Amino acid sequence: MVARPARMNPPMQSVRLLDPETGLDGVIAIHSTALGPAAGGCRFWRYPDADAAFEDAARLAEGMSYKNALAGLPFGGGKAVLRYPEGEFDRGALFRAFGRAVEGLNGLYVTAEDVGTSVADMQEVATMTRHVAGLDPSEDQAGGDPSPWTAAGVFDAMRTAARLTLGAELSDLTVAVQGTGNVGAGLCRRLAEAGARLVIADIDPRRREALGELLGATIVDVADIAAADADIFAPCALGGALTAHSVAAMKARLVCGAANNQLETPEIAQQLLSRGIAYAPDYVVNAGGIISVSAEYLGEDQASVLTRVGQIGPRIAEILEQARRESRSPALVADEMAERIIAAAGPSRGLNGQAA
Ligand code: NAI
Repeated sequence: MVARPARMNPPMQSVRLLDPETGLDGVIAIHSTALGPAAGGCRFWRYPDADAAFEDAARLAEGMSYKNALAGLPFGGGKAVLRYPEGEFDRGALFRAFGRAVEGLNGLYVTAEDVGTSVADMQEVATMTRHVAGLDPSEDQAGGDPSPWTAAGVFDAMRTAARLTLGAELSDLTVAVQGTGNVGAGLCRRLAEAGARLVIADIDPRRREALGELLGATIVDVADIAAADADIFAPCALGGALTAHSVAAMKARLVCGAANNQLETPEIAQQLLSRGIAYAPDYVVNAGGIISVSAEYLGEDQASVLTRVGQIGPRIAEILEQARRESRSPALVADEMAERIIAAAGPSRGLNGQAA
């Protein structure tokens, strides 16, 4: 997990979840409801104690506020973090108990899948509350696996950013992709179709070899991917790919990928700028998934998801152009844009129904 200091400071609200009967132990963190209900997935993971779970939830909830605001969604930012119980437990009962807690917030928080949770878990949640997305979609409606939408948004963002910052088409470029999971593999397929050369790495040998063979990609060691001989680096594994060390060794001139929280610390954005490496801010690039999830919650169709995902490329262009004009990091420019959108929406609604 990557620590990041709070950028904006509305008081983080939280609800402690504790139900010894089912083993439910966690927290729902609500960062902002200025733009609408706090939306963000439910993470089910091992944490050493309740404080560690809260810290992660708070950091992730804040990130969701920024992501939702810049994706143009009528949602604030929130996140649920549930601690994985020690010993035996009834998974269905645990997620139904979580569903009751979500229902108790009367729509202030909307949940969905995140690391460690599945469609089946959300179906259990849905038996207790309607404030949940990421369920099996009905025909023509938005919903289901968000990864293809995330990959589509990353691809568009990369094509736009490459034209602007490298003055080149993807067909003339080499892209180093770190992580060939759901999003990374989808991105690689699109890049191969567009004629880009691919260098890939994954800790899972089956994944990297299958994809390497399918797409004719060059496979490198995971330790070498950030410094690979490439024009673009696409972090699509876990957070924290951009460290002082990896940026110092990077040959790519553009970073654009799906992973959340790519900057190990906020200062890395400045290091990228000093090295002349363009950075497409992660939460703007990877918003395709939450766009799909939110459309499902609002009962919208696939066409509306397509429209919103189509706005990711132009938004990246706007951020990169402003950053270039002002000689500032695109990460800062994006944060300020998101903060302006949230501030203009007025105060957050608190857990007690009052302005927070
Ligand atoms: P995934 O779990 O399907 O894929 C991640 C891949 O990264 C796996 O193949 C794993 O083996 C590999 N990996 C892990 N550590 C690695 C390392 N050190 N070096 C190289 N490969 C490594 O996850 P998914 O869904 O593809 O997500 C990828 C990233 O995008 C995550 O950071 C996720 O938070 C972010 N993201 C995903 C969205 C989605 O719609 N799935 C939406 C927004 C962000």
